[in-house]
Amino acid sequence: MKKVTLALMVVGLMGAAATTAQADPKKDLEQFRNYFKQKFPTVKFDEYSNGFYHLPGMESYREQFETLSEFPPYEIGLGKGTANWNKKFPNGKTFADCFPNGGKKIAQKYPYWDEATKKVRTAEMDVMDCAKKNGAKFSFLEANLDKDTKARVELAEIVAHFYTLSRGERVSVDVSKPGALAAYEAGKKFWWQKRGQLNFACADCHMELAGKNFGGGQPLSAALGHPVGWPAQRVGWARLETIHRRYVTCNSQVRAKPFPHSSEIYNNLQFYETYLSSGLPLTAPAMRN
Ligand code: HEC
Repeated sequence: MKKVTLALMVVGLMGAAATTAQADPKKDLEQFRNYFKQKFPTVKFDEYSNGFYHLPGMESYREQFETLSEFPPYEIGLGKGTANWNKKFPNGKTFADCFPNGGKKIAQKYPYWDEATKKVRTAEMDVMDCAKKNGAKFSFLEANLDKDTKARVELAEIVAHFYTLSRGERVSVDVSKPGALAAYEAGKKFWWQKRGQLNFACADCHMELAGKNFGGGQPLSAALGHPVGWPAQRVGWARLETIHRRYVTCNSQVRAKPFPHSSEIYNNLQFYETYLSSGLPLTAPAMRN
């Protein structure tokens, strides 16, 4: 009982710090890792890159996850993403021409702070920009990504391929520039804010309640490792999806109004979450419940 109270106090303190103190990402990272180390002493650091399946009490889900991962159903979508990645644009170039090192071993630095635009940029944004710049015609260039599932999934598939080119690379997001720090701070604030009719913060479900079964049938992941498996395919969704779609679902689950796909606040949130997963290997795309 004492332990539970203490854990709650730590979450409370970290939340309070989010609204007052100057951003100190290194300290945040240390606190965040220690939080999970104390909560789940038997779970090894790298195991956090595989969703909630490694958490104590999730053995039956883990078995299902391992079976699914042998012949993962996302292979079909990923195959389409790979084909699109390799297909020539009207000018003869391909996506690989838009990225340093042909897009290989760079995804661990995404999302990243872009000094030129003074914004956080995601892989989705870079893929879209590349297609546009080279005169390619993809439905996701014109579509409303919140409403047009087909267009969004097509984008998720290409981004999933992009992430496979960096599989196993360890997350290394740079938050050192002043603008980056402000974006990080905005993401952090969003993370700790209570919202929706249920009045839940991200931290309530993915820190305090991590490893528990929400509403009986929905196990909750630890926030550590959150972004490294995305784009991912949930069994129920049966298609690859972007991490922003996951954010939309999490906001809706507490009956809060979700923000638009690729909105600045979701970019900043992803920036914050990804920094907190520093050092974990990329596993995307992954299967998820
Ligand atoms: C009411 C509880 C709840 C809240 C609050 C919540 N989520 Fe979730 N979230 C879930 C559930 C359920 C899942 C699916 C199971 C899992 O992986 O945790 C999930 C999954 C995720 C995943 C995918 C994890 C993985 O390993 O694939 C991410 C990322 C995520 N949530 C981010 C967020 C963020 C960011 C917020 C705050 C904006 C948030 N969640 C708020 C319930 C919640």
